[in-house]
Amino acid sequence: MPDRGLKSLKPLGVKIAGSGRFLPEKVLDNRYFEQHLDTTDTWIRERTGILERRMASEGETTATMATAAARAAIDDAGMTVDDIDMILVATITPEAILPSTACFVQQALGIRPVPAFDLVAACSGFIYSLINAAFMLQTGHYRNILVIGSDTMTRITDFGDRATCILFGDAAGAVVLSATPDTNGSAIAHFKMSAEGSGDSLLFVPAGGSRLPSSHMTIDERLHYVKMNGREVYKRAVKRNLELVDSTLAEAGISPEEIALVIPHQSNLRIIESARQRLGLPKDRMFTNIQKCGNTSAASIPLGLDECLKTGRIKDGDMVLLIAFGAGFTWASALMKL
Ligand code: UT7
Repeated sequence: MPDRGLKSLKPLGVKIAGSGRFLPEKVLDNRYFEQHLDTTDTWIRERTGILERRMASEGETTATMATAAARAAIDDAGMTVDDIDMILVATITPEAILPSTACFVQQALGIRPVPAFDLVAACSGFIYSLINAAFMLQTGHYRNILVIGSDTMTRITDFGDRATCILFGDAAGAVVLSATPDTNGSAIAHFKMSAEGSGDSLLFVPAGGSRLPSSHMTIDERLHYVKMNGREVYKRAVKRNLELVDSTLAEAGISPEEIALVIPHQSNLRIIESARQRLGLPKDRMFTNIQKCGNTSAASIPLGLDECLKTGRIKDGDMVLLIAFGAGFTWASALMKL
């Protein structure tokens, strides 16, 4: 079945008014895993590109990290909490089953009653959220939307499973996405979003939902942790990423040379490298932080956005391509004119 996804017919006039990120202080390097599992620093570096990742300490959660990143984004935008008209949190590790993590963030930041909800699209969650927020802004009902990606992956990771536990880290990133006058030029110039539910048994958490509620059995069987068929997910991720970059640029009528920077989801350095080679871009135009952060799920793209905006690696007027692939499977791209 060809991926038709969703095509944007006209640019969505929005601007990143401010950004922020939060990384827990605790660092887990590859030697930590060498001490506990049958693995090596060399294997992890060569197969994933990861050297270290961050781990939330007691008291640090998806909502506390999201709140810290959001506060930084609001400050960066030169706004106050009174300027925020909606809160959207992309996460697969919510603060609790209910209420939504977005409601915890609203309370923690002291934001007045505004729409607040979570969006579940795994590693594609931040791009999905950004696009949804952009559409909300188009209605004219809202001016500034807090879009957050926050995941505490180490809380759903089996530290006895060497094939998954070496991959993930904890973090949050956030932007304030604002409506702009059409003449401004800042926009999501093009986007794609899609999903394929047949990936459900290749990357998933078996227990804790309505299909298999938590019980002594699910805990004993370690079914509340992420399970992944890494090799199969890898193949699908490479294939979808290549289709995504090709189709996004072709539909937008943009050549790779016009892109200042690609910020891909950080799942595996080899997956990122395959997309870079397809685009024919030099290494400095493909953002990576997987070496230091691992795979932070919904947080990885806003982490990259914030770092690049703060260091001046990207600036107003630049064309930036965001791409992601994750559990579901889900995939998404956003071509942003900053
Ligand atoms: O963010 C959402 C999307 N997620 C992804 O895109 C992740 C996609 N998958 C991957 O990144 C890679 O598949 C992994 C990094 C998870 C695994 O790398 P791989 O090169 O695909 O390895 P593999 O699963 O094919 O396993 C190769 C070998 C196996 O041993 P045998 O069967 O050849 O004897 C594994 O048991 O490597 C073994 N292995 C390890 N060895 C040392 C698996 N994990 C480890 C480990 N240390 N940590």
